[in-house]
Amino acid sequence: VSKRTASLIATGPSPAATEEPEMDHPKEIFLKDYKKPDYLFDTVDLEFQLGDEKTMVTSKIAVSPGNEGTSSPLALHGCDLKLLSIKINGTELKSDKYTVDPRHLTILTPPAGVFNMEIVTEIYPQLNTSLEGLYRSTGNFCTQCEAEGFRKITYFQDRPDVMAKYTCRIEGDKTLYPVLLSNGNLIEQGDLEGGKHYALWEDPFKKPCYLFALVAGQLECREDSFVTCSGRKVTLRIWTPAQDLPKTSHAMYSLKEAMKWDEEVFGLEYDLDLFNIVVVPDFNMGAMENKSLNVFQSRLVLASPEAATDGDYAAILGVIGHEYFHNWTGNRVTCRDWFQLTLKEGLTVFRDQEFSSDLGCRTVKRIADVSKLRSYQFPQDAGPMAHPIRPLSYIKMDNFYTGTGLRKGAEVVRMYKTMFGASGFRKGMDLYFQRHDGQAVTCEDFYAAMCDANNAHLPNFLQWYSQAGTPTVKVTSSYDEGSQAFSLKLSQEVPPTPGQPMKEPMFIPVAVGLVDSTGKDMPLTSIYSDGRVQTLSNDGHPIFTTVLQFKKKEEEFIFNNVPERPVPSLLRGYSAPIRLDSDLTESDLYFLLANDSDEFNRWEAGQILARKLMFSLVADFQQQKTLALNTKFVDGLRAILRSTSLDKEFIAKAITLPGQGEIMDMMSIADPDAVHAVRTFIKKELAFQLKDDLLAAVTSNRSSEAYAFNHDSVARRALKNTCLAYLASLNEPDVTELALNEYKSATNMTEQFAALAALSQNPGQVREDALLDFYNKWQQDYLVVSKWFALQATSDIPGNVANVQKLLAHPAFDMRNPNKVYSLIGGFCGSPVSFHAKDGSGYKFLGEVVLQLDKINPQWHPAWFQRSLDGGDMMRPDKLLLSPAGDDHLSQWTL
Ligand code: ARG
Ligand code: ZN
Repeated sequence: VSKRTASLIATGPSPAATEEPEMDHPKEIFLKDYKKPDYLFDTVDLEFQLGDEKTMVTSKIAVSPGNEGTSSPLALHGCDLKLLSIKINGTELKSDKYTVDPRHLTILTPPAGVFNMEIVTEIYPQLNTSLEGLYRSTGNFCTQCEAEGFRKITYFQDRPDVMAKYTCRIEGDKTLYPVLLSNGNLIEQGDLEGGKHYALWEDPFKKPCYLFALVAGQLECREDSFVTCSGRKVTLRIWTPAQDLPKTSHAMYSLKEAMKWDEEVFGLEYDLDLFNIVVVPDFNMGAMENKSLNVFQSRLVLASPEAATDGDYAAILGVIGHEYFHNWTGNRVTCRDWFQLTLKEGLTVFRDQEFSSDLGCRTVKRIADVSKLRSYQFPQDAGPMAHPIRPLSYIKMDNFYTGTGLRKGAEVVRMYKTMFGASGFRKGMDLYFQRHDGQAVTCEDFYAAMCDANNAHLPNFLQWYSQAGTPTVKVTSSYDEGSQAFSLKLSQEVPPTPGQPMKEPMFIPVAVGLVDSTGKDMPLTSIYSDGRVQTLSNDGHPIFTTVLQFKKKEEEFIFNNVPERPVPSLLRGYSAPIRLDSDLTESDLYFLLANDSDEFNRWEAGQILARKLMFSLVADFQQQKTLALNTKFVDGLRAILRSTSLDKEFIAKAITLPGQGEIMDMMSIADPDAVHAVRTFIKKELAFQLKDDLLAAVTSNRSSEAYAFNHDSVARRALKNTCLAYLASLNEPDVTELALNEYKSATNMTEQFAALAALSQNPGQVREDALLDFYNKWQQDYLVVSKWFALQATSDIPGNVANVQKLLAHPAFDMRNPNKVYSLIGGFCGSPVSFHAKDGSGYKFLGEVVLQLDKINPQWHPAWFQRSLDGGDMMRPDKLLLSPAGDDHLSQWTL
């Protein structure tokens, strides 16, 4: 663990690195050392002979010099491969002409000019538990090559700037592996002797090897089609084991919506006649965007109303969209090197967020995304693992698929849109594709396309790519009645992070509106800043929100013609990934909570009030004072809860307190017990004081209609389930009865699981019975069983460490399946109290599990640190972090 942590801190090679063998200290790679490849690969023809004991891989590559007149050795990456033979231009290469070590094969003196290379290797997918390269999942073969897994298949220049056209011939037993898939188009297939068959695939687009994929096995497909904007018919297939086919309809719907959305919003059309999605139960990450052959873990494709929650449905929509959108942002235009990961991931996360917003409710989606950023990414940016969205060095690239690269990266992309508007952003995207289609590029190329398309120059904006740490922006306001001028003084501070003690000011877009005393937005006419007056108008229409371009350490913006003292609504829509520290008073915040036209900021005002309240109660708790809840806060939430005009999902979010992780992240010394005690106290007190309203919300939001995944139904269930969770915290017989009744009468997983979560808040027989009943009902469905594990793992009932330890031995648990590990172990790391148990039993437990897991699949711990702690660090006791609850699909109903 410490070694991996060290790789994230990236402070340079440790002194031991030079003394110990390379296997123990893999090389640290630096962005500043980037060099173009010496050799290019033009075509790659792969042949796989799949077998139960061994698989033979033949790779024929047309090589050409990358740099004029190169004569340097050709170094190929390789890992866990058995080399059988190498031929250059048809002749077997003698063993003194190459060297092999555990990580490379080096051809010492390659021929000048263009040549052919043929390499035959043997691999053992059935022994590959790393789920990287070619491996087996429930008997089927599948691949995962991003970031650096292709080297586990064959010797190759495993780097994204080596782009080639591929063919792939797959040969295997026809009964065991009736379906043989790879990228591109199927151009030939047929039977062979000995009960075998083959398929030959050809991908017409150049691609880096991380986008290569192969799948073989017993799969069936749901087939559908999509007609593109230019009238081409694309065949769509989702492959799963036969029994799961009925659960693929929502994924197919999501795919078609994503294809339509990318045409409508970005003018991007799909470029082949076939698009495949394959579902595998054992998968390290969520999914993978391999060209025309996306691979997904089951949870992100399979759904039925009985077995999947609204959260699952939403995640499927988002991730199906995400992987599909990569076809342009990632595949057609890819990354020059892995340091540029955020170029494709930040952009594609932004695109999937926008897609989900357009199909659902924009404000609610924005709130969900900002909450995740705060709970998972802020702590990372404030801790020892802080790194810029584009890191400066890495040892193992897999460690950088972080909340920072992805979520903060998406926020950086969003800032371009905030500054240039939807049409300016679209112009930038168009220019980006016009310039770079078919290329492997850098974050600067994206920045240049955005700026050039908008004739803009954004001083300091590139700092977002190179400086780690969350900037804090302080705002103080003043109003001068005589001159009718309202001033906002802004100052920024980017905190020091490991390796970056000093920071430069950043370019921060701050969206601002001014609210008058009746609660209406004031029209904004002109601002004075930088010694200039800028007139604000939108083709003669008044404007109500303006984006301040804040780019110095300190800057003052003066709004003119402001007839009365306004309440400023700052950072509308959360226009930059910063911490805002304003001089708004409590009464300003209650006013914004009730009136702001920017719904995001209405929610935000409530959250700021809740945070202030939690901090003051934490102080009381620490000084052993009696806790008491301020009535204004209760009244504010009551008013929201009773509103008939607000969106129901918005109400559910607005009455939910900030997560424990978010609060601890803001404390200089984290005190998990105090935060938990305070959060529990407020929850119960609110439930007690708002009981009638909460009960009314539960009963009035029942529905006998069949399950539908649309915003109104999702919002209704969200409100009902949130209220039920509050009520259950009272642990009173009537609410237990109510929750039991909801549990028994539920006809969909969203409501059934929420009721189970409500019941399991309180230790006792009712809890035990409900958990057992649920398990008995669902033991055949491993995805539901994973939820059951997660629910128990994240529980705050006393003595839960022992409980989780017992679950490790449960027959349904399996250390080799990432979903189960995420649910149980990852869930436990997100538990509010047990993980941080004062006697250290939680940390000890985790340490033991990590040592076991590392031998099976080393990608797991970084991955579930990200999911449950999202980069949180357990090495620093003053910054112990945790998420509101273990896993995304759970955090909803555990409040
Ligand atoms: N590119 C994938 C996605 O966008 C993530 C794959 C990461 N895989 C890994 N082994 N680090 O979903
Ligand atoms: Zn992605």
